[in-house]
Amino acid sequence: MAKLLINNEQTLSHINREIYGHFSEHLGRCIYEGLYVGENSDIPNVNGMRKDVVEALKEMQIPVLRWPGGCFADEYHWKDGIGPKESRKKMINTHWGGVVEDNSFGTHEFFELCRQLGCKTYINGNVGSGTVQEMSEWVEYMTFNGVSPMADLRKENGHEAPWTVDYFGVGNENWGCGGNMRPVHYGDLYRRYQTYVRNYDPKKPVSKICCGANSDDYHWTSEVMATCFDHAPEHMHGFMDGLSLHYYTLPETVDDWMVKGSATDFTEDIWYQTLKRGLKIEELVERHSAIMDQYDPEKKIGMIVDEWGIWTDVEPGTNPGFLYQQNTMRDALVAGLTLNIFNKHSDRVKMACIAQLINVLQSVILTEGDKMIKTPTYAVFHMYRHHQDAELLNSSLMDVDIIGTEDNEIPKISESVSVDKDGVITITLNNTSISEDEVVEIVLTKDAAKYQVCEARYVTGAMNAHNTFDEPENVVEQDFTCFEKTSDGLKVTLPKCSVVCLRLK
Ligand code: AHR
Repeated sequence: MAKLLINNEQTLSHINREIYGHFSEHLGRCIYEGLYVGENSDIPNVNGMRKDVVEALKEMQIPVLRWPGGCFADEYHWKDGIGPKESRKKMINTHWGGVVEDNSFGTHEFFELCRQLGCKTYINGNVGSGTVQEMSEWVEYMTFNGVSPMADLRKENGHEAPWTVDYFGVGNENWGCGGNMRPVHYGDLYRRYQTYVRNYDPKKPVSKICCGANSDDYHWTSEVMATCFDHAPEHMHGFMDGLSLHYYTLPETVDDWMVKGSATDFTEDIWYQTLKRGLKIEELVERHSAIMDQYDPEKKIGMIVDEWGIWTDVEPGTNPGFLYQQNTMRDALVAGLTLNIFNKHSDRVKMACIAQLINVLQSVILTEGDKMIKTPTYAVFHMYRHHQDAELLNSSLMDVDIIGTEDNEIPKISESVSVDKDGVITITLNNTSISEDEVVEIVLTKDAAKYQVCEARYVTGAMNAHNTFDEPENVVEQDFTCFEKTSDGLKVTLPKCSVVCLRLK
């Protein structure tokens, strides 16, 4: 039996709601079909945005949305996506399937979507193939309230008031698809480009995000930080609010290389290998953060994990450039484990965006025509929403079994605990075993007797269980009843292969 000790008198850090963020790129059927169907579609929509999808995302409490990419961001020229739709430029989406991008979803549509979702906005600018002027004018177009060429253009295009850009990414993966740059070169470009990302409204400053590393590329982090902080004059304070990190979990191995493999057809060994690889994100967060500490010991610069999740083969018969993959209980566990890790490191991790929102990679929603299904990953985000803007409580596990297969051993249980502004404690627990339940004794250090379980939910299923358009409710969030009160707290039986959320009041 494992034991979870919760010190409910000690909060450690604030869990920014943006840790539960999402990413939407002009890639496959994420934007078009997934989110945006246009005003003339038969699919019920408001100003072109799918009603069913918006409703589901609001229910999940989506806190922030990143757009327009990804690799697409560094070849996106924002002026192609404004003005009358019929005269917007058509371009080739060279990264993603070589399809025609008609730019019918652009800046105005993105802000309209975020308005409907009630979420914060994260725009990713173009450093790879765009100019400083283009980036600077985009920020002026979106945020300047007054008379200026770009503010006037925005008004001509029908939007009088400026919008709020909460976060702005200065390039994406500039070590790769965003220009194949060396870190020192990018560091210098970051210094220059960010200078012209102006804060027109001091009451709503734009948080600037510098392009960070891929996975365990610590060299990139070291060099970019050194370059950005070299002779950084006083007036550059606030020049970097976040540094990104991208990490994808590739489940399989061929000739010692990590590869994708099927989203739904995998062995027990691959199950544990995938979860082990997912858990690696903790080491990445800690080691990149240690490098950031050298320049930012007070942790004012957030780590922004703005792309993470499982990356598998596409579903058979679909366009390989569209990255459409199914989503099983394995995805649910990777999501649960990762979000617990982010909560635990919320002193440094200030935002994270799972890739991607709909119909691409590890999505929370899949669509087919007018049909929509919620994936097991959706259930996890929905249950974990109670951690948003709560305070992380000091908690730790004892006597946890190490399970798995010979080369792929992992802890059986994972947890994180928070307390919200009303004093409600949220405990999220994962059982990574595909064959065995686990009893967990939960001990609260203070006033255990006064707490009652006010909500208990979980998601479970066979390791490759998933929802389809014919069977949309194979894997759904349900009420959880396998717990009993004890004098110190609770005794809980976690079903095998499950993600559980308990709330105590
Ligand atoms: O999410 C898919 C792609 O993965 C993104 O466009 C890119 O940033 C990353 O390599």
